[in-house]
Amino acid sequence: MKPFPVPHALSEEEIVATIADFARASRNAIAAGFDGVELHGANGYLIQQFLSSSANQRSDAWGGSVEGRVRFALEVARAVVAEIGAEKVGIRLSPGNPLHDIFEEDLDLSYKTLVAGLAELGLVYVHVLETDGHRELTAALRGQWPHAFILNPATRRNPTGPAELALVEDGTTDLISYGALFLANPDLPARLAQNGPFNTPERSGFFGGDHRGYTDYPSLAAG
Ligand SMILES: Cc1cc2nc3c(=O)[nH]c(=O)nc-3n(C[C@H](O)[C@H](O)[C@H](O)COP(=O)(O)O)c2cc1C
Repeated sequence: MKPFPVPHALSEEEIVATIADFARASRNAIAAGFDGVELHGANGYLIQQFLSSSANQRSDAWGGSVEGRVRFALEVARAVVAEIGAEKVGIRLSPGNPLHDIFEEDLDLSYKTLVAGLAELGLVYVHVLETDGHRELTAALRGQWPHAFILNPATRRNPTGPAELALVEDGTTDLISYGALFLANPDLPARLAQNGPFNTPERSGFFGGDHRGYTDYPSLAAG
């Protein structure tokens, strides 16, 4: 851990400048050769801080109500879409994720309002990092989303695995995203196609500061 400044509520000017930063960063990503960008609206990063009624204590137009709290996410998405085109923009959300004591009042209404606004902007996908107990909300958001839906499903502390592919088969989602299993298996698509074997994610190495647990897993060919 390193020292960090005490956060402060952004001024209106800072909010406008930050939205412009997202747009510029997206333009730079495309110029650098990326196919598109995923806005990070999950896990307590800035966009979710605006969505959260515990982090966002504003009483101006950027907080204080569902419409206020979703406004920053929508304005960031609008600016990025205007900059690089909606077909290059997706967003990651984590409805109800309690990480770092995040609390989201009016959870269902907030995300339904947000997703409706994002659909109007024409983003290519919504990527939901699901929290345990929120499958119903996942289904509701998927039901109102007109484009591709990506799910990082809630798996009660186990890494998302091959069993979760059933969620594509049964129509819960269009695509599954993998975190820890992909980290441990750089050739994950090939392993899924042949039904394993899979290396086990080495959690003791995570956030340890060196390559261990990140880039030291054997590929099938080496195995
Ligand atoms: C080592 C490690 C680092 C991660 N870092 C981030 C991060 O920086 N930002 C983020 O939103 N999620 C991060 N995640 C969460 C993953 O994106 C994913 O949501 C989580 O691992 C659950 O999916 P899984 O069961 O497929 O692993 C990280 C996960 C792991 C294992």
